[in-house]
Amino acid sequence: MATILLNLFDNLRARQPSPDAPHTAFAAPETVQHIRRFHHTLPTYRPTPLIALDQLARTLGVGRIWIKDESKRFDLNAFKGLGASYAVCTTLADHLDMPPPLDFTAFSQPRIRKAIAAITLVTASDGNHGAAVAWMAAQLGCRSKVLLPRGTITARLDAIRTFGGQAIVIDGNYDDAVRRAARQADDQGHFLIQDTAWEGYEAIPERIMQGYLTLLDEALAQMGDTLPTHLFVPCGVGALAASLQAYLVEHFADQRPRLVVIEAAAADCYYRSMRAGGREIIPVKGELATRMAGLACGEPTRPGWEILRRYADAFASARDDLAEAGMRRLAFPHPPDPPIEAGECGAVSTGCLCHMMQSETTQDGRKQLGLGPESHILLISTEGATDPDAYRKTVRRFNDNGSTGR
Ligand SMILES: Cc1ncc(COP(=O)(O)O)c(C=O)c1O
Repeated sequence: MATILLNLFDNLRARQPSPDAPHTAFAAPETVQHIRRFHHTLPTYRPTPLIALDQLARTLGVGRIWIKDESKRFDLNAFKGLGASYAVCTTLADHLDMPPPLDFTAFSQPRIRKAIAAITLVTASDGNHGAAVAWMAAQLGCRSKVLLPRGTITARLDAIRTFGGQAIVIDGNYDDAVRRAARQADDQGHFLIQDTAWEGYEAIPERIMQGYLTLLDEALAQMGDTLPTHLFVPCGVGALAASLQAYLVEHFADQRPRLVVIEAAAADCYYRSMRAGGREIIPVKGELATRMAGLACGEPTRPGWEILRRYADAFASARDDLAEAGMRRLAFPHPPDPPIEAGECGAVSTGCLCHMMQSETTQDGRKQLGLGPESHILLISTEGATDPDAYRKTVRRFNDNGSTGR
């Protein structure tokens, strides 16, 4: 029997009127502009490229495809710096009573730097968020500590240590690391900069989600007059997907593009919970063994769950094969599409789209989502080759088969 690579749940409720409206005001247009102005004050801020994949669109029989390439974000190789920078700077500005508007250059004042030097930021991470927090700490002149799950590869630890961060691998999975980081923050008076929320810890995760809004705001500005019809977004705890979903609700209401949430099959808590009726969260426990390290989260962030279960149009549970297929597609495109380096989490959006358009098993899902010649699809590629050895092996295997055009 053929392996099922993708399971899809269509959320029919997403387009139905409903009295419950989860909190999305954090993504209101004027707030987005305030956040973007802050990002502009960071010395290395540049919008990441938005690349049109016209040949891939022709091959798949859809109108147009664009991919937002977050491997170019702040030299961090992933999108996470957008959230970490905004959350860390707003938190420290509050702590030090710094007057608005939030401006990164204000943190270089000697009085501020002296106060910041005594601070330690702590977080749990699969790698990318931890590197982003360590990067921010290095720029501001404070300390950082990152707790990572068992089995984290050396390249991810190195990315944190390069910025002077302390990287500690714990004997547990990502969700255990989150609980441990929260305890350390309490016990040792550190600032917890976590991208997942729970009761009583909501403000900083919301600021992280707000930081991510810049990604979509940039992409839509780069698309000019065209509004995508569909977004394909990878999902771990769901902070990124929920942030983009909130943006769409706040800016476009009922006219918003459809959003497809993509999880790793080994950690598909949103997909499972939605299949079971969407009333309660069904966590995924255990090793969460997937090559998509950033998606290896078995418990959603609470606001992410509330937003996505109400508004997201579909939930996909994708096997690692689709991430690998996406990596190869992007590395070896059909000319004239340019090659793009995307790691596992980044490439799974492309792998899923290709599979949905080309497999017989996904005909219903395709129809339900209205994917076809009129579709204008925005793929979010959230990272570059953050595991360089695995990237080389995945892409080289394809090359050795002689199947590439390069
Ligand atoms: C590269 C990458 N993509 C996507 C995600 C998923 O983001 P979230 O956990 O906010 O759903 C992560 C999270 O670590 C990541 O590192």
